Amino acid sequence: MYILITGCSGFIGFHTSLLYLKKNIKIIGIDNLNNYYDINLKKNRLKILSKYKNFIFHKIDLNNKNKLSKIFKKYNFKKVIHLAAQAGVRDSVKNTNKYFKDNLISFYNVIDLSNQNNIKNFLYASSSSVYGNQIKYPSKENMDTNSPLNFYAASKKSNEIISHAYSSTSKMNCIGMRFFTVYGPYGRPDMSYYKFTKKIYDSKKILVYNFGKNIRDFTYIDDITKAIYRLSLLNKIKNNNLIINIGKSKPITNMKLIKILENEIGIKANITFTNKVLGDSFKTHCDNKLLLKFTNIKKFENLKTGIHKFVNWYKDYYNVTK
Ligand SMILES: NC(=O)c1ccc[n+]([C@@H]2O[C@H](COP(=O)([O-])OP(=O)(O)OC[C@H]3O[C@@H](n4cnc5c(N)ncnc54)[C@H](O)[C@@H]3O)[C@@H](O)[C@H]2O)c1
Repeated sequence: MYILITGCSGFIGFHTSLLYLKKNIKIIGIDNLNNYYDINLKKNRLKILSKYKNFIFHKIDLNNKNKLSKIFKKYNFKKVIHLAAQAGVRDSVKNTNKYFKDNLISFYNVIDLSNQNNIKNFLYASSSSVYGNQIKYPSKENMDTNSPLNFYAASKKSNEIISHAYSSTSKMNCIGMRFFTVYGPYGRPDMSYYKFTKKIYDSKKILVYNFGKNIRDFTYIDDITKAIYRLSLLNKIKNNNLIINIGKSKPITNMKLIKILENEIGIKANITFTNKVLGDSFKTHCDNKLLLKFTNIKKFENLKTGIHKFVNWYKDYYNVTK
């Protein structure tokens, strides 16, 4: 029996696949290897996964329902973990078209085929961005999320609503995972911690939005994959539908993050402050009580240790000798 993981060449999909493979679980990975960021990074992640005999990769665009349908027919999937999407909040303000295709049409194709093929466990990536700007923090799953600040958040909220409809009319257990700012080795080059690290090493100016006051709940990748794994073991969920925050619940300002990076790297950042960016939320702060209840995860990676692991990986991967 196989588990399908979409977006396996992406940051979270790669680490999730690796965790299952290390547990000797058979994985079918799908990705279209799009060029949103450096394709070599995606290929290098794939190279690592391909060393495992239990890993089979299919390069498919999830917009192609016919091809995807054949994959579902060929393998008898036990569970589906849908992590492929067009990520990134800022890009979604202008490039709505690719978000529409990769986050709405693709999502529909994957959930619809999962339903047709009687998949018991359907897990998918939602996002903390569905919370937009709230009046109260931390953000709890039952808070109002009907006012998305950008198209990306709107696409993730739509996924949650669509999955609610499927879980209401079938026996499929749908779990929407609202990830909070995930970081770590083999991370996403468009994210702040990665860009800041590169700019510090390259002695380039760092543009810090909203004068460094934005607050993010950074969550280490291994805590995310552990949560995904444990959630994928759940067999009985009330009304077949669960929306759950996955985050550490210890948010920090971007300025604090830069200080941690400066200390770790041993070079001072060259900072230019600028206004807030259209579509950005001011703060993310995860209420993770539900996560603790369902997964029993008690300890999250310390931010300084996580950043240390990321910087070590970065130096090694890019041959930085500074
Ligand atoms: N990284 C975070 O902090 C974060 C936070 C909240 C939510 N998420 C969500 O988690 C999921 C994984 O994010 P990530 O950080 O690993 O992003 P990523 O961009 O590294 O990975 C996504 C992968 O999906 C693939 N993909 C996109 N559209 C596809 C399509 N139509 N067909 C096949 N493959 C396609 C891409 O090539 C990429 O490899 C996404 O759904 C993202 O929206 C991520």
